[in-house]
Amino acid sequence: MRESDYISNTSISYRKDYGQFFTPSIVASIMAKWLIENKPKKILDPAFGLGVFYKEINKINLQYQWHLTAYEIDENILSYLDDISNKKNLNILNQDYLDSDINYYDAIICNPPYLRFQKFINRHNVLPKIEQQIGKKLVGYSNIASIFLIKALQQLNNNGRLAFILPFEFFNTGYGKEIKKTLIEQHLLKQIIIFDNEKDIFPDATTTICILLCENNQLKQDIKITKIKTTQEIKDISNISNYYHHKLTNSQLPHNQKWTPIILSLVSPQKIPEGFCKLSEYGTFKRGIATGANDFFALNKSKIEQLQISDKNVCLCITKSNLIKEAIFTDNELELLIKQDKNIYCLDVKKSNDKTVINYLKLGEEKGYNQRYLTKSRNPWYKLEKREPAPILFGVFNRGRLKVIRNFTTAINFTCYHGFYPNILGHNLIDKLFIYLISDLGQEIIKMNKRSYGNNLDKFEPRDLNNSYCPNMEQFNSIQQQEIREIIKVATIDEKKAILMSNQLIKNIINR
Ligand SMILES: C[S@@+](CC[C@H](N)C(=O)[O-])C[C@H]1O[C@@H](n2cnc3c(N)ncnc32)[C@H](O)[C@@H]1O
Repeated sequence: MRESDYISNTSISYRKDYGQFFTPSIVASIMAKWLIENKPKKILDPAFGLGVFYKEINKINLQYQWHLTAYEIDENILSYLDDISNKKNLNILNQDYLDSDINYYDAIICNPPYLRFQKFINRHNVLPKIEQQIGKKLVGYSNIASIFLIKALQQLNNNGRLAFILPFEFFNTGYGKEIKKTLIEQHLLKQIIIFDNEKDIFPDATTTICILLCENNQLKQDIKITKIKTTQEIKDISNISNYYHHKLTNSQLPHNQKWTPIILSLVSPQKIPEGFCKLSEYGTFKRGIATGANDFFALNKSKIEQLQISDKNVCLCITKSNLIKEAIFTDNELELLIKQDKNIYCLDVKKSNDKTVINYLKLGEEKGYNQRYLTKSRNPWYKLEKREPAPILFGVFNRGRLKVIRNFTTAINFTCYHGFYPNILGHNLIDKLFIYLISDLGQEIIKMNKRSYGNNLDKFEPRDLNNSYCPNMEQFNSIQQQEIREIIKVATIDEKKAILMSNQLIKNIINR
């Protein structure tokens, strides 16, 4: 049965529960061709799905006996495999791969399920077993794809090859450090393939992905970096080992550093200009207030009046990303939102003995808001985190240009924005930082730390922003305050023009 039939017969939530996203056959083909170069006899696919890797290996028509062992946890998907299920060189085990015993293979090929570990049903049973098998504690491993990789690496024979699809973000995570250490110190990692126009190549993927090619040959070889831009480009690749754009030594990929900025700085046209420093030198981005029940905590003027909640028990707050449309947010814009009766307030209980607020909280409890995941963990359930108004706001999710706001109001913000909180050094640089962040160069450099959600949607965690690069103090000091004032003024009426002016200013300080 064809993949499209399976997809149309199966709900997206079912597929999500099992992490069922399929590898396009052209991608599976380059992985399979590379995998079989050492003539492996025993091959493993730990997450079989509809068997795209088996099919691609079969197409190569190997002139020797080989056998593929496959694991697939979902019985339902296996019922769609009439065309290959009784092949002699294929043994599909309807089992949890993570619960399987350790056997050894000459080649392993896999697109593992990307599932948060909390979602993985069998986690309590399998963890101790895998930890024993690999001799390591798996604390903090939040995605089971990485556990598939750890286990598979353990099962690779000498000179065995492994081709694995993984979320690109894995290279930046804390738990990824240990795997990166193994990949580098044991000289397993040979090539990393990343994709530019991801949605075209992997229409199905919900996260930025990459392919790792590993070989257990103990040879100290450079690591090749390949960036693929189009589907046509993949079709034209005859041998992926010879198709790469950069080579890195092992020491250029330290396991305790994030790899995506290192790799992206190689393959993206944008380089980090000389002298730039980490943005964290000037302060920190923090996520906004997580209420756990925005529809209860976010309020508008008429609701406050109707409930007769006193001013003391509310505060000004940006409760939704789209409330702010322009790069400069002043009291004028805020006033307008209040007039339009938008949810621009947040319940902030300071006087809990106020009768009106007691009534509203009661209403919330009746509706079960106090029993939500976050609210349940707070004492009292309606007490929110403390946050000062942030002078720069940064959109958590962005499509295309990154949303950067210079906030001149006293409004705090929910989690739709990350807020920048300057330290002593950053205090006088807020406007300059803002100008940098809206400039094309600033945007490109910040994007090097993005987490793609596919479909051009990029997500940023506060630490992605804090680790981004920006001009150093000397470079910032060379900008005149007057120039900055001018750009901010222009930005209130013509954002595009302000961006052009910022571009020029940033270009000047780099060239100086
Ligand atoms: C990302 S899909 C890849 C399918 C196929 N190999 C491909 O590349 O198109 C992952 C597959 O692993 C299966 N799976 C999820 N958890 C598993 C587990 N613990 N053990 C074995 N298979 C699992 C899912 O049902 C799904 O079919």
